[in-house]
Amino acid sequence: MASTSSYVYDAWYLAGWSTEFTTGLTALVMLEQPLVAYRSTDGGMAVLEDRCPHRQLPLSKGTLIDNTIQCGYHGMTFNAQGQCVRIPGQDSIPASATVRAYPVHEKNNMVFVWMGDANKADISLVFDLPQFSDDRWHVHQGDALHLQAHYLNVAENLVDPAHVSFVHPTTLGNAASEDVAVHVDVDGDVLVAYRWIRDAPPVGFFQKFGGFDGHVDRWHYYYLHLPCTAVIDFGSADVNAKLAENERDQGLRIFALHFLTPVNEHYTIDRWMHLRNAAVGDEQVSHQMDEMFRIAFNEDKAILEAIDAAERLPQMRKPIRLGIDKGPVVYRRRIQALIDQEQSITQQTQQTQQTQQ
Ligand code: FES
Ligand SMILES: [Fe+2]
Repeated sequence: MASTSSYVYDAWYLAGWSTEFTTGLTALVMLEQPLVAYRSTDGGMAVLEDRCPHRQLPLSKGTLIDNTIQCGYHGMTFNAQGQCVRIPGQDSIPASATVRAYPVHEKNNMVFVWMGDANKADISLVFDLPQFSDDRWHVHQGDALHLQAHYLNVAENLVDPAHVSFVHPTTLGNAASEDVAVHVDVDGDVLVAYRWIRDAPPVGFFQKFGGFDGHVDRWHYYYLHLPCTAVIDFGSADVNAKLAENERDQGLRIFALHFLTPVNEHYTIDRWMHLRNAAVGDEQVSHQMDEMFRIAFNEDKAILEAIDAAERLPQMRKPIRLGIDKGPVVYRRRIQALIDQEQSITQQTQQTQQTQQ
């Protein structure tokens, strides 16, 4: 079936760090849908469609009054469930006077919104890692990287260890990894592309934070949780430790997390953060790591925005595929299957409704 959209709707997407939602109304766009988010006085989050059903003024242009939004044009007022509770000048409220309310869940100081069928919103599917609540690990939220790029291209970059030798030569990669093969596995809704670079000089990141004198064994495991949350498990250990694959906690181990929020087909927000099993409680190290991540992720941004510009030009031929593309190829196939499945369910529902009318 031909796709009309490149989004998977039935999923939790990151709307922002918890600290981004303090007081007042926050307008945001996710999957091309305008949303307005706010915190109620009890601290809970509400996320509504940011469009008044009367004349379509964004509700974010209105006023938050007692946990409800009063539209800034004629004062229709909506509660956190999206129901109209007041229409100035009339007593009756038509049943159609509603805006869509999105399921929202806050976890690990992040706010997630379910963008699809609310009946399918299952909070057990919200992204989590045991290390978030393990005091041997330090958790640190970084920035929001705004990319003029398609989310699938950004996600593809996050299941592609082969680029680091060329895109991040001063931080995450070096020439030692150029010719090391990448393995790809699939486990349910998680893809992993990984490789070990054994007995090689440490890359810039681990020279700075690992204190290694000689050669190290270095690993990269790029886990991509469908549709677009990435966990990059990378680290290094002294070569003499001869670390096995499942002993990575014995080395300096970092998880760089990327939560991709598609805004539209040419704009993606990548909120990134990290967890590490060293320097717990040391925020100076957190900020130093942020500086290195910013260098690296801006290198990705430059590449991905240049690709987006090139993809807008008339296409003369199909892109060629290389051996290193297995992760991205599997990823795109899985995403397409999810999109096709959602669209076929939507079509069936519409057909059933038409026959009932
Ligand atoms: S546009 Fe919102 S009440 Fe008229
Ligand atoms: Fe990268």
